[in-house]
Order: sequence, then structure tokens, then C-alpha cells
Amino acid sequence: PTSATPNSDGFLQCLLGNIPSGLIYTQGASNFTDVLASSVHNPRVYTGDMVRPLCIVTATDASHVQAAVRCGRAHGVRVRVRSGGHDYEGLSYRSLQQGDVFGVVDLAGLRAITVGSDAVWPLAPTAWVESGATLGELYYTVAKNNSEVAFPAGICPTIGVGGHFSGGGIGMLMRKFGLSIDNILDAKLVNADGDLVDRAAMGEDLFWAIRGGGGGNFGIVVSWKVSLVKVPSTVTAFNIVRTVDQGAIDVLTRWQEVGPTLPFDINMRVIIMGQQVTFQSLYLGKCSDVVPMLSNLFPELGMTGGDCLEMTWLQSVVFFNSWNPNAPVESLLSRGTSLSTFTKNKSDYVRRAIAKDDWNKIFPWFAMDGAGMIILEPHGGFIGTIPASATPYPHRSGVLYNIQYITFWPWGNDGSAATSWINNFYDFMGQYVCKNPRVAYVNYRDLDIGVNTVVNDVTTFDGGKVWGEKYFAGNFRRLAAVKAAVDPTDFFRSEQSIPPLVQGN
Ligand code: FDA
Repeated sequence: PTSATPNSDGFLQCLLGNIPSGLIYTQGASNFTDVLASSVHNPRVYTGDMVRPLCIVTATDASHVQAAVRCGRAHGVRVRVRSGGHDYEGLSYRSLQQGDVFGVVDLAGLRAITVGSDAVWPLAPTAWVESGATLGELYYTVAKNNSEVAFPAGICPTIGVGGHFSGGGIGMLMRKFGLSIDNILDAKLVNADGDLVDRAAMGEDLFWAIRGGGGGNFGIVVSWKVSLVKVPSTVTAFNIVRTVDQGAIDVLTRWQEVGPTLPFDINMRVIIMGQQVTFQSLYLGKCSDVVPMLSNLFPELGMTGGDCLEMTWLQSVVFFNSWNPNAPVESLLSRGTSLSTFTKNKSDYVRRAIAKDDWNKIFPWFAMDGAGMIILEPHGGFIGTIPASATPYPHRSGVLYNIQYITFWPWGNDGSAATSWINNFYDFMGQYVCKNPRVAYVNYRDLDIGVNTVVNDVTTFDGGKVWGEKYFAGNFRRLAAVKAAVDPTDFFRSEQSIPPLVQGN
């Protein structure tokens, strides 16, 4: 069991005895900071005084992950895991507890993608993807040689598969095929005992929990078997921009009814920034089909053939990320960091359309000092047909859309205007969104909605419930029961880790 007093030296010695020393970076090493920063995407949480890991293990084999967990257990040192480093609160590489002693297992070197030899339609193709792969690498690998094969996951190509699949996976294909977690067939995980287990060995409860119950809770997932999906060789992508002066508020008000009820083959998300609304869409088919469809179902949008960009699905992934239809698909392979823009994100879900009069009150917020943007992701479609308890992601039937609030500021700016804006705007929006409790998406991690309380070295269930029911609703209790079964000593712990449901806590 994890002892209360960590033995840092014993931990490091144990690592050196089991993992090649070239893969272990201790705080004193000259390149420690470079390795730590290598996948950081938000300097807001990557500060000079943040609580850093004792060391980083850049695993290149599952056995290194196993050794790190076993050494951690033996010497009372917790281990956090990082795949793509996109956690909005940096929980994969920093602690908020002063004096916390922990190691980080970084999986960027564990990123092989193996597409099954059965990747010929109509047989269902599959792939094994290691957690350190990025979404861009996955998209590129599965689609490069077959433009009809795709996978449903997020927009930003540098996101890590490990954290993303752990929390859900909202993206352009979700109305047709669901979230990433709805397309996972198997996984290999290093559990709290350091054993490497697959779906059959871990059992269905743990397999349920790791598909959406949030990263860093139940073990370290090393790889995932996914079910690939079939898309047409030509898809249609388009961005239609309307300003408030051009009647954007009417179109947006109507979109709330239309976006979640359109045929499954179309996904139309909305980006609001300034006094401008962008309807960003992917249609799994040709321009000549989508134009009449939308003039029938959504005439208020005023779409024409001139808006269409026909391309392969892989090219559409690049387009939605870069807004450039001609950007090379190879750009999906670059990993990289982004340390120049500070961000803060929050989320909500909407089940009852917001009235036009209320949108009129909302839009002035986008003209204020420090204003950021919001992105609305329509649900409905296939995603809404999946029962709320089928995976930990509970925001299914009846959800119209998810709202992501994003604010950002550059180096040299203290961020106070942007931070005040997002906090005040989020408070203002409370009247229009799902409440009691107000819910959120775990992959848009937000520590403002609650952090854990630890008593007698174990996270309390009641403390975790505060934020946990916001992310997971009725699934939170089952997640805590799984945690108690697989990690009763609470080894995999962070500020928002699932607490073990044990008597007396
Ligand atoms: P990171 O490595 O930081 O891990 C995130 C969490 O998962 C941490 O708690 C970590 O410990 C844990 N974890 C990581 N690897 C694990 C593993 N192998 N096993 C177990 N736990 C693991 N989301 C979305 O759904 N759709 C989108 O379009 C976007 N877009 C987007 C853009 C940008 C710029 C950012 C920064 C983020 C997003 N996201 C998103 C959110 C994203 O899905 C979320 O941050 C993921 O958790 C990131 O996964 P990473 O592996 O990159 O993060």
C-alpha cells in the first residue's frame, strides 16, 4: 500500500533499476524543463512556481509504465500520466498541493498505430492506437491510404489519444458515429498493482469506467482498440459567417432547433466571437445533396453552392483546424506546444433553446473588454440514441448542444480582463443552461466547479460529488464504486480524480 510519507530516493532508485536511465529525467537534469514543457498547451497553468514532478519517465514500452506504477506503490510516490498534455488545468503534469511528491509518466514515445488487416469494407476495420499518439497521427494513419476510413474524435490534431479517449471525444463526426468512447472495443491498461490488463482481464465495470470517466483515475491506459468508421470519399465542408447586423441572432435562434435534429450525416457547430456567428459544418456527402437539404430544413441559413468545399474527410480535418482548405494533410503530424497563448475554459449543456430576446442580451457580452468566444456543439443524432448510463458521459438524449467558453490572452497581459469576463459571463449564462446541478464536460476540465478533499490519505466521496455529478450525473456513483474496487488506496489521485466509494468516506 501507498505509505503516507513518500520515499523519493527509493522511488528513483527503483525506477533506475527497472527502466533505462536515458528515459528518466529528474528535476536536476539540464533538459528536465524542456521535457516537462514538451507538450504543454496552456502557460496559464505552466508557471515558474507550479508544483513540478520529481521526475518524468518518457516510457517507450508498457513495461516502463508498469515499473513506474510498481515503484510508486512501493515507495509511496504517486504517479500522474500525460499523453498529449492538453488538460485545460494541467493536471497531467502539475499538482496544486504544495509539497506534493509525484512522478509523471509521459507517453509521447508510446504512439504506434496499427490498422487491422481486416480494413477492407464491408468487414469492420479496426486499429490499435497507443495513448501517446495524437489525434492528428491517428486521422492521418487511418485515412491516408483509404479515403473512406475515418475515426470520430476532436478537432485539434495535437490532442493526445490517452486523455481524450479517457474523457469522451467531441468532434465533427459525432452526430453520425458518436463520441470517441462510443467506438472503443478494447484497451490495455496498467492498473494500480502495475499489472497490464486487457478488456477481458479488467472486466466490464473497469472497461466501462475508462471510456469517459475522466483521465488519471483508474490506471494508465497504454493502448486502445478502436472501431474505424466508413465515410464517403468526398465530403463537403463549409463555414458560413453571419454578423449580428446580417441577422445572425435569428439564424442562431433557429439553429438551436435545427442543429440537433438535422440528418445524422451533417454536423453543424457554431462559433460565436465578437458580433459574428460562424456555422461550421461537415456533410458526409456531396455539395449537390446538402444545398437542397439545407434550403429545405434550414432556409434561414441561406446556404448556396458557393459555400461548399468538396474534399476528402482527411482534408476536412485539416480545414476545420486551420480554416485553410489547402493546408497539407502532413501538418496533422506535427506535435508541438503552444506556450504563447494563455487560456481558461468552461462548459455547459443546453436542453431548452435560448429565446431570441435572451440572445439579444447575451451578444453585448462579446463586445466587452476581455471577451473571448463560445463554441456550441450540437448533439442529437447517433449520440442522443445512446443511453446515459451506457458510458460515463451522461449528456445524451434531450441535449441540444454543449457550450464551451474560451477566453485567451497573450504574453505580457495579466489576463485579469479575460478572466473576469469568463467568470462573469459564465455566471450570467447560468439562467439559460442546464442546472440543478449545472453540468459540464470532463474533457473541458475546470477546477472552478470543485476540487477534492482528502481525509486520512483518501479522497472523500462527498467532496468529489460536488464536481463529479456535474461531469457524470448519475454515473458518478458507479465510477466511485469502480474506483473502490480497482484502486482502494487512491493511488491515482489528482485534484479532480474519482474518489473511492468506501464506507465511512
Ligand atoms: P493530458 O495528457 O493532459 O491528459 C488529460 C487527463 O487525462 C489528465 O488527467 C491525465 O492524467 C489523463 N491521462 C492522460 N493520458 C492517460 C492515459 N493514457 N490513461 C489514463 N489517463 C490519462 N476535447 C474534445 O472532446 N473535442 C475537441 O475538439 C477538443 N479540442 C481541444 C482543443 C485544444 C486546443 C485543447 C487544449 C483541448 C481540446 N479538447 C477537446 C479537450 C481534450 O479532449 C482534453 O484536454 C483531453 O483530456 C486531452 O488529452 P491529452 O492526452 O492531450 O491530455
